[in-house]
Formats: sequence, C-alpha cells, structure tokens
Amino acid sequence: MILPKIPQELTDFKPEIGLILGSGLGFFADDRIEVVGRVPYGDIEGFPVSTVQGHVGQFVYGTIEGKRVICMQGRFHFYEGYAMSQVTLPIRAMHEIGVRTLFVTNAAGGINLDFVPGNFMLLSDHINALGTNPLIAWKGSEGVQFPDMSEVYDGELRAKIRDWAKAHSVDLKEGIYLATTGPSFETPAEVRAFGILGADAVGMSTVPEAIVARKFGMRVIGISCITNAAAGISKTELTHEEVSETADSVRPQFADLLAAGVSLA
Ligand code: HPA
Repeated sequence: MILPKIPQELTDFKPEIGLILGSGLGFFADDRIEVVGRVPYGDIEGFPVSTVQGHVGQFVYGTIEGKRVICMQGRFHFYEGYAMSQVTLPIRAMHEIGVRTLFVTNAAGGINLDFVPGNFMLLSDHINALGTNPLIAWKGSEGVQFPDMSEVYDGELRAKIRDWAKAHSVDLKEGIYLATTGPSFETPAEVRAFGILGADAVGMSTVPEAIVARKFGMRVIGISCITNAAAGISKTELTHEEVSETADSVRPQFADLLAAGVSLA
C-alpha cells in the first residue's frame, strides 16, 4: 500500500488530534471547529471517495479550544466495497502528519436494555465481528506488527470524559461495541447472540480504524451515538433515516461531549 500524497497544507498544519465523524454526526466540523481549511478526499491522489448518501467526504482542519484538530467528515466503510487498507488509509495519513490522539465516533444500535435512542456510549472495548483484520497483509514497516489490544480505548482519558459528563449531568453510558460488516442491519437472533457475547451496542465501523490507530500507538477514544434500539429490541423496522434523525436530534449534546473530550485530551 502506497501512502496517499498528503497535501502540504495538512502536513504544515501539524494537527495533534484526529476526529472521525460517523453517520449523521458530520455537522460537528461545521458547528464546533474554528475551520482553517478543508480538503475534499477527491483532491487527494490515492485516496478513496465515500459513496454513502449524506456523507460529505472531506478533511476539515482547524482548532477546538486552541487544540489543532483534523477531522474526517465522512469515513470509508467496509460495506462500500473498500479494502481494509483503504478503510484505514486516513489513519495512516493522520499518523504520518503527527496525530497522536484519535476520537472515533459512530452511530450504533443499542443492545443493552438500559440504553435509549439519543444516549451516548463511551467505548470501553470492542468485539471485532468483521471476519477480517485491517492489519492482515499490511504493507510497510511502521508500527507494531502484533499490537496489544488490552486497552484499545484509553482508560485515563475515558475517566476524564466520564467525570466531565457527571459534572454536566450528561447521561453518558459506557460499554462494548461490536462491529459487523453491514450493510444489512442485524437479525433479532444476531442481536441476541451479540448480547450474549457481551456487546452493548452494534455498528458497522470504528473497529478497523481503532486497530490501526493502536498499531501506531495512538491514544484512542470511541463514542457511539445510540440512534436506535437494535433489531428485535426495537419492534419497528430499522432504517438509515431513523439513524440520521436521531443523530440530528442530539446534535448540540453530541457536539458538547465531543468538544469536551477534545479539550480534555
Ligand atoms: N445496527 C448496525 N449499525 C447501526 C445500527 C444498528 O442497529 N444503528 C446505527 N448503525
């Protein structure tokens, strides 16, 4: 895998923190970043382009409370047909330009019965049910070949975010995220099985990026927006619209939480 030709403006900016904005959460870049510049993925030689409707595909860079951030407004999903190396290429690019902390966000279905749509869940851990791993056939010698995964999501930073949530009366859940490939939602039997395996929420992203970030020794934080009760728990049909609508309805709360996380990092 050859690294994309990273635009000089991104390298020069020297971002410290990377953010990946999940389905329906892309607004964060416009709402909370003091934007310095934007680079559409299509302008980067060797970069894939997101195909999901409603996902803008660009890097937005700037500052949040004085911290230099680079943000992915739109990510690449395995279910779009990209190779794992393409899904995680932006993490390699972020590593290359000096990013040391990564916030990965996503929309997810709630499996834990204590969760209601509109809740946020800090990832305490994950289960990779993608059936593959982004480090298979890795080309390049950077990072650890067999990364330790005993604490993917940084415990210290999580504790700070948890304390912030408590102090601000935010009902922040914490739990285990299980990644499936999608793009079909799960069956009720799958959701029951994932619950027995220990999953609190299910989604179609995040795990590949988190694994690659850990390979590079980045500090990782994961935040899910629980947009719906997972199949079988919810008695209604699941739709992408419902996911987007819920994410949109908690826009300011999500933005406060993520901005606080960045300021604590
Ligand atoms: N399942 C998988 N991915 C999701 C869901 C879900 O219920 N909601 C949002 N993303």
